[in-house]
Amino acid sequence: TYVITQPCVDVLDKSCIDECPVDCIYEGDRMLYIHPDECIDCAACEPVCPVEAIYYEDDVPEEWATYTTANAEFFSATGLGSPGGAARVGKTGTDVAPVSELPPQA
Ligand code: F3S
Ligand code: F3S
Repeated sequence: TYVITQPCVDVLDKSCIDECPVDCIYEGDRMLYIHPDECIDCAACEPVCPVEAIYYEDDVPEEWATYTTANAEFFSATGLGSPGGAARVGKTGTDVAPVSELPPQA
């Protein structure tokens, strides 16, 4: 799977959403999260993020390693499960740690 990391927090450019062929990038409150089971590793989202927040799971920088877990936990902690498409879910207005604990980033 691909993972969205800290540079997305409070930026939410959302260019990535338009690129994803399986609509597996979901909207939290302060950042977006990729569903680890729905992502097909197409890599289309990675180059369009203007703040380089998106990485393949094996390439996530050490300083943002917790975001790999955070992307997965977003779906279990919120009870979203595997909705199979972000468009009909829309804004969830919710985040998980470490995002929810960060001071304003932008
Ligand atoms: Fe965030 Fe970059 Fe997408 S800032 S919303 S990961 S384009
Ligand atoms: Fe979508 Fe990016 Fe995965 S475009 S399929 S979230 S690699």
